[in-house]
Amino acid sequence: MSVNTQKTVEKMNILLIGSGGREHALGWRISQSPKCRKLFIAPGNGGVENISERIDLDISNHDDVLTFCELTNINFVVIGPEAPLIEGLTDSLRNAGILTFSPSSAAAQLEGSKHFTKTLCDQMNVPTADYRYFTDAVSAKQYVAHTPIPLVIKADGPADGKGVTVAKTLKEAYIAIDSCFDGLFKKSKSKVIIEEFLTGEEVSMFFLCEGRDAIPFGTAKDYKHVGDGNTGPNTGGMGAYSPSPLANDAMVNQVLNSIILPSLQGLSDSGISFSGILFAGLIIGDDGPKLIEYNTRFGDPECQVLMMRLQSDLLTTLLDCAQGRLKEVTPIWSNKIALTVVMAASGYPSLYKKNSQIKGLENIDHDNVHVFHAGTEHINNQIQAIRGRVLNVTALGRTLLEAQKKAYDFVKKIDWPEGFYRRDIGFQGIQEKENN
Ligand code: AMP
Ligand code: GLY
Repeated sequence: MSVNTQKTVEKMNILLIGSGGREHALGWRISQSPKCRKLFIAPGNGGVENISERIDLDISNHDDVLTFCELTNINFVVIGPEAPLIEGLTDSLRNAGILTFSPSSAAAQLEGSKHFTKTLCDQMNVPTADYRYFTDAVSAKQYVAHTPIPLVIKADGPADGKGVTVAKTLKEAYIAIDSCFDGLFKKSKSKVIIEEFLTGEEVSMFFLCEGRDAIPFGTAKDYKHVGDGNTGPNTGGMGAYSPSPLANDAMVNQVLNSIILPSLQGLSDSGISFSGILFAGLIIGDDGPKLIEYNTRFGDPECQVLMMRLQSDLLTTLLDCAQGRLKEVTPIWSNKIALTVVMAASGYPSLYKKNSQIKGLENIDHDNVHVFHAGTEHINNQIQAIRGRVLNVTALGRTLLEAQKKAYDFVKKIDWPEGFYRRDIGFQGIQEKENN
C-alpha cells in the first residue's frame, strides 16, 4: 500500500492592491504559488487579466475594501503602492483581523515624511546626507544663498517621485523652494529639507522586515532620469537591472548593520513595529553607503527585475513575513541578470497624450522575456496607453549585455509611435564591467 506523504497545501484568496508594473510583476509571481486559490487585483491594468480577476474598488474607502474582503473570503492582502499605506489601509485591514503584507501608517512615515526619517537617522546615527529643515520659503532661501551649491531640495512628503531637485544654481534652488511652498506638491504640507549633495553611485536595496529583524531581499540599479545619459527631469524610474554590481554581500551586510537594523530599532523604541518591505535608496561614496531615502514598498520598476530573478515562492515569503516567521525565509534568486526597459507616453513626466493604441504585444512573452503592463487598458478591443509609464519590457540573461539585448530586441517589436524609452538602460553597468 502506498502512503501519500504529500502535505495538502492550504489555498488562499489573495487581494493585491495597485495598478502598476510592480503589481503586474507581484501578481504574476503570487499567481504561480501552489497556495494561491484565487488572485484579485484592485484595480490592476490591461495586462493582469490572465493572472487575476480585476476589481474596481475605491481603495481610499476602507469600508469598501473591508466589505469586499468579507464577501469574497480574502485570506491575505498585499498592498503595492505607498499612498494606501500612508493613508492607513494596512491598519484598517489588520484591525478587522485580515492578514496583510505591508507596513502600518506609523511605519510608512519612513516614506511619507523625509523629516521623520532624517530625525530617526539623527537619533540612531544612521549615515545620511547632512540637512536642514525649513517651514518657510524666506528662511530656506536665506540658507541656500549662504551655502555652497549643488544642494538637494526635497519636498517633505509624497510627491510621486517628483519632489526632489538637485539644484546646480541658486536660481534652480529658489525655483525648487518656491514649488515646495506654492503647493505644487500639495500633499507635502509645505515643508522642505535641504540636503548636502552626495557624490557616488546609487543603488536600491530591499529588505524584508519584521519588528527589529530584517533580511536582504534583492538589489537593483534604477534609472530615474527621463533622458539618455541621465538627463532631463526625474521620473518614477525609466528602467532597472538586478543585481546591482555595487551590492556584493559585504556591502549588503554593511547596509543591513549600519542603516536598516538601527532604523528598525529606533522605530521599535518609539513603539512602531515595521512589517513589510523596506526599500533603501543609497549613495555609495568614498566613505561608504549613505541613505538618501526610504520607501516602504517595492520599487517600480525595481520590483519587475526582482520578480524575474526570484525562484522561491513569493506568496510563502510574504506570508512568512506577515506572520512573524522571517527567520524561516531564505529567498532563492536566479544568478542571471534581469533588466527592464520602461516604455512611457511621449511627454512623460510632463503632460502626455492618453488613449494611443499599442500594437505588437501578442505572443511577446517568452521564457526569459516578460512584458509587465503599467498604464494600459483594454478599450474598444485595443490595448491603449492611459498613464505616463505604460510597459516594462523585462528580460533575463546570463550577462547584463545579454539581458539588455533581449529586452531591447523585444522593445523594438512593440508598435507604439506615441511612446518612447531610454536607449541606455544597463550601459553604465556594462561599461563598469568592461573597465574592470
Ligand atoms: P529621492 O526621491 O530622495 O530618492 O531623490 C531622487 C533622486 O535625487 C535620487 O535618486 C538621487 O539621484 C538624487 N538625490 C537625492 N538626494 C540626494 C543627495 N543628498 N545627494 C545627491 N543626489 C541626491
Ligand atoms: N523606482 C523608484 C521608486 O519606486 O521609488
